[in-house]
Amino acid sequence: MLNQYTAITQYYDRWVTSGYYDYERMAEETYSIVGSGCCILELGVGTGLLAQQYLQIDPTCEFTGIDFTPSMLEIAKDRVGDRVKLLEADAVTMDLQATFDVALSNGGVWGILDSGDPWQFGGHVPGVEANRQGLQNLARHLREGGLLLLHLQKPHQDFDKVLSDGIVYSQAIQEIEETEDYRVLEKRYFFKKDEEVVARERIEITCFKPEISQTLLSEAGFEWQGKSPGDRFAIFKKRSSLAKGG
Ligand SMILES: C[S@@+](CC[C@H](N)C(=O)[O-])C[C@H]1O[C@@H](n2cnc3c(N)ncnc32)[C@H](O)[C@@H]1O
Repeated sequence: MLNQYTAITQYYDRWVTSGYYDYERMAEETYSIVGSGCCILELGVGTGLLAQQYLQIDPTCEFTGIDFTPSMLEIAKDRVGDRVKLLEADAVTMDLQATFDVALSNGGVWGILDSGDPWQFGGHVPGVEANRQGLQNLARHLREGGLLLLHLQKPHQDFDKVLSDGIVYSQAIQEIEETEDYRVLEKRYFFKKDEEVVARERIEITCFKPEISQTLLSEAGFEWQGKSPGDRFAIFKKRSSLAKGG
């Protein structure tokens, strides 16, 4: 299935903890925005690395993580399964029967491409309609005034990096489609050992153009609040129904 991380799950942690993401700083920054005791939903929780860091800072929060790659969730269960509610679900169609104070995504379902002003929304969900449906579904899972934190992603680039045990990570990016609303980037992940590819994955990232980015989020009831103090997240707030009505 498109954009699952099954084939590279076993190498995922080795790659992202080699300097690709700083989970400790991200958790601190999240906490500085949302404060203690919140009900948090992570969209595309992956192997639970951010959830683990966050719970160390705020053990009083109620943390739920959804993901649609079962093998990633298996690792998350070993890591944080006793403290985080982990659910296999697609963010576009999830029905969690719960509302949250905060939803966040780091490299997960959605993000904001930070290529200067204006910002661009996008992520792992393909096409306009699925994103519209997904954002509206997400809004149903957030309380009024709730926050949506989307990681700020620098433009994707090709690079190689040597990880532990002689594993070499590479990523290769190519634009494969452009429409009036969005561009689609193909991202190929490779893990090599002794020049042999031991795991590979291909995903498609949809990057919406600025105008439709704003429309999609606004239609779903999200208002741009600004960037977080350390520039790791874009912050949106769910409008109250009173404000929506005018
Ligand atoms: C790059 S990983 C990020 C994982 C984690 N947030 C982290 O910081 O390490 C992207 C994750 O998003 C999940 N994902 C992508 N699209 C999704 C969707 N529509 N619904 C649920 N999970 C999704 C993938 O399965 C994968 O585990």
